[in-house]
Parts: sequence; structure tokens; C-alpha cells
Amino acid sequence: MLAGEFGTPLVVYCEQTIRARARAYRQAAPDALVVYGTKAFPNVAVMRLLAEEGLGADVSTLGELRFAQRAGVPPDRIVVHGNNKSGEELRAAAEAGVTYVVLDSVEELERARAAGVTRVLARVTPGIEAETHEAVQTGHAGSKFGMSPEEALEIRDAVAGLHVHVGSQLLSTDAARETVAWLNSFLGRSGWHPEIIDLGGGLGVPTQPGERAPTIAELVSALGELEVDAHVILEPGRSLVGQAGVTLYRVGSVKRSGERTWVAIDGGMSDNPRPQLYGARYTALLANRLGEEPSGTVSVVGKHCESGDVLIERVELPEPSRGDLLAVPATGAYTLGMGSNYNAVPRPAAVLVAAGEARLIRRRETVDDLLRLEAP
Ligand code: LLP
Repeated sequence: MLAGEFGTPLVVYCEQTIRARARAYRQAAPDALVVYGTKAFPNVAVMRLLAEEGLGADVSTLGELRFAQRAGVPPDRIVVHGNNKSGEELRAAAEAGVTYVVLDSVEELERARAAGVTRVLARVTPGIEAETHEAVQTGHAGSKFGMSPEEALEIRDAVAGLHVHVGSQLLSTDAARETVAWLNSFLGRSGWHPEIIDLGGGLGVPTQPGERAPTIAELVSALGELEVDAHVILEPGRSLVGQAGVTLYRVGSVKRSGERTWVAIDGGMSDNPRPQLYGARYTALLANRLGEEPSGTVSVVGKHCESGDVLIERVELPEPSRGDLLAVPATGAYTLGMGSNYNAVPRPAAVLVAAGEARLIRRRETVDDLLRLEAP
């Protein structure tokens, strides 16, 4: 029905799930400022409803800042990041009156001041190696992000506090505990009493059967081991929207080749590059044949011109055929937001479903949209 009305590929978001996740953060950490990691899925409608739930936005580019502003996120709930902020980005942050700009280096302090920014935090790299894909570890020694703890101490009188974010898609609370233990020791040793501590995001979501992630309450309880009396900021992205999104694809060609059955869908690495980038694993079901038993194992591939365009290596499905509707759950975060136009494929639409009604929250791109960028 949705696929018929809006076409495929289509990312379908559940409003109730997004609101429930936001409320879980607010309930678990009522005194914290919770800001949505916009990069997970920059979308005005989603950010507007998160703002209704009392959340703000973590933005890391001018574009993300403009999304937050368009969604009406109050500036005192906007935190600005970026490891290479331009002068334009710093000035836009100052003009917007955002609550904090997070300095990624000592050098940035002067540039931020010159741009009119008055409230800053220092992003510190604690040297913690979170258990996750290397590409999304951020707190290890030698990371491109942040400054050393010693550098942060040098500018402590100029900053309201510090920021730590050690990684993303974390499926245990170990890294959170390690971060808090590190903070307790670092702040204790240095006698620094920051007004603000921003603990970043990172909570993972399961994307395949048998996988488990900590609950929001479990994460917040781990962070509660912080012994410092500071105002806390949390920056969840994936854990707010990841499970709220399901991608619908139409099955096209079904082919047996050697041992494998290849099931090709009408999207692929242009709407979800996570399998290629991080070895992400997803599951799938045939949405139009939910009652049927699986008949075998298939591989789901996209329509792009390379063999690596495999969305799911192995999944058990009823014998798929052309025209079936393939649903891939837990694809709400870092999919469409990281989508590309590879092979000049327009990016999918997104809808938000609430109380049985679906509304378009991002229209499907067209080939004309792409051609508009070309020289005539
Ligand atoms: N705060 C900062 C400073 C961040 O860099 C990030 C994510 C977040 C918060 C939100 O993290 P989350 O709660 O979503 O884990 N594209 C990758 C993930 C990159 C995460 C980048 N930073 C993926 O698809 O797995």
C-alpha cells in the first residue's frame, strides 16, 4: 500500500517509535540536555517532532544547522560540532545564538571568538578504543577528532566544559563506563570542575536477529557513574531513529548463479552504503508474503554496477519473485542520510507513519533534480 502510493525504494519511519525513544532518554536522564545527532538522518519533520519531545540538535555542518533552524529547534538546545569548521559555519553558529560550539582543537578557540561565538566546550580525545568498527571509533589516541586532555586543561578557563564521544554503534555499555571512569580520574587529578560535560552519543541498535543492544536506561545508568557535579549533555543519533525506519524495496531480477540465489532490488548501495562501509548486516522479509515459511537462503543485491553492491549476504526468505516487496528493518539511521547518486540513481523518498496515516517527509529525488546540477 505504502509502496504503491509512494513508490520504492521508500524509507518508512514510525513516529511512535521515535517519540518513545526520545521519551526514554528524557525519562532516564531528566536533568540532561538531549540533542539529536542530526547526521543520523537530517530531516526537518523528524527534528520537529524531537523538538516537541524536548530534544535539541547536535549539528556538525552549516547544512545540519539550517535543518535544525528550519525545524524550529530552539538555539539554546543546539550544539555545534565539526573537526574543520569554516569561518562561515562559526559565524552562522554565533548568529543563531546556539548554546555551545564544541572546539575540536585549541587553535579553533581564537577563530570561534573572532566569529562572535561566546560559549564553547573542548572536545577531548581520552584514548579509549571503543569496541565497534574502526571507521566509527573516535576516542582513540591518534583520532582525527578533538584535542588531548593536556590541551583541554590549557584552555579550561576559556571553556564551559568538555565533550567526549568515543564511538558509534556501541552494543555494550563498556565504552560508556570506561569513558566515565576516565573522566572521574582526569577531572579528579586536575581539579577541574567543568560546568558542562557532553558525553556524546554512540548507543547502537540491533540490525539482525540475535543481536542485542543496551537499553537507553542501561546506558544512562552506566553514565550515572560520573562523580562530577556538572550539567550533562547527551547526543544520541542512531538510537533515536535507527529502529524507527524500515526500507521497502521492490524485487526485480531473481537469478541462480552457482551456489547462490541473487535477489536484486530497486536500490542498493546508493540508499544504504553501510554494508560496504562497515560490514553492516541486516535482515529482510517479504512484506507481501508474511505468512509464508522460508524456502531457502538468498543474497540480496542492489542495482548498481559493481559486485560489492550486496545489501544482505544471506537471509532466509520464501522463494522470492519479481514484484515482491522486500522490507529491511532497522535502517532509519545513516542510510538515506549517507545516500549518494551513484549511477545517477535518484535518492528514495521517506514517509512518517502515525496512527495509520503516512505523510511524506522527504520527497523522492528525480532524474531532473540531478540534471538540474549539470551545465546546460
Ligand atoms: N556526537 C558526535 C560528536 C558524533 O560524532 C556522533 C556520530 C554522534 C554524537 C551520534 O552518534 P550515534 O548516537 O548516532 O552513534 N555513519 C556511521 C556512524 C557515524 C557516526 C558519526 N558520529 C554508521 O553508519 O554507522
